[in-house]
Amino acid sequence: MKKKLIVGNWKMNGSLAANQALVRGVLDGLEGLQVNAAVCAPNVYLSQIQAMLHDQRALDLGAQDVSMHEQGAYTGEISADMLREFGIRYVVVGHSERRQYHGEQDLHVALKAQCALQAGITPIVCVGETLTERRAGGTEEVVKRQLAAVIQTNGHCISEVVVAYEPVWAIGTGLTATPEEAQQVHSVLRHQLNAATAQAARISILYGGSMNATNALTLLNQPDIDGGLIGGAALKASDFLAIMAAASQCATAS
Ligand code: 13P
Repeated sequence: MKKKLIVGNWKMNGSLAANQALVRGVLDGLEGLQVNAAVCAPNVYLSQIQAMLHDQRALDLGAQDVSMHEQGAYTGEISADMLREFGIRYVVVGHSERRQYHGEQDLHVALKAQCALQAGITPIVCVGETLTERRAGGTEEVVKRQLAAVIQTNGHCISEVVVAYEPVWAIGTGLTATPEEAQQVHSVLRHQLNAATAQAARISILYGGSMNATNALTLLNQPDIDGGLIGGAALKASDFLAIMAAASQCATAS
């Protein structure tokens, strides 16, 4: 089995001192784990963390958003080329918090993914339904529509993305999709990717939404769950490491 990918999304958390302790703690515990790992930090801290990660390969660095424009008069935006200068390997695009609070729509997300890909950065494309959409039976339709926009804009490059299924109702709420619920949606996404590219097998599909040390193993053991996108539990080294240990267990058991 390919190694699982565990990505921490710090969201708008951290400080110079807290980041230093967190990254140090994660690096100290990562040794020997069979897992691909990354942390997505706020932009202002990227150079701090890049400096901490420069002499190792166990932990990659990511950002949480990128502009859908290449350069120019877009006050406050950060381009993919700028991120690349800071050694960024991944960038989260289309997180539900961006869709909800910043009006991002499917096309914006698709263009952001395109900018990242053009700069050689792997976009982590987030899809997921709200509770209302789930209750109305719309989960599959919503996630397929969100992913279809990214596939349509990016063509054969779609094989270079990572997809994250994050049910909005499970983010930061302590509610988690059951392993079966998550697997069901992951399998829908896998079929959609298979239909889009012959290279779909290389695409990791992560689960996100209240993943923690307790539920990680059963979620990660599902056949189409290739890793996790972790919010709250990525802010404490021991919690994040426990999830990575579960991911490593899946990789070595297979
Ligand atoms: P939580 O793990 O805090 O639910 O957040 C998930 C998430 O939104 C990761 O991007």
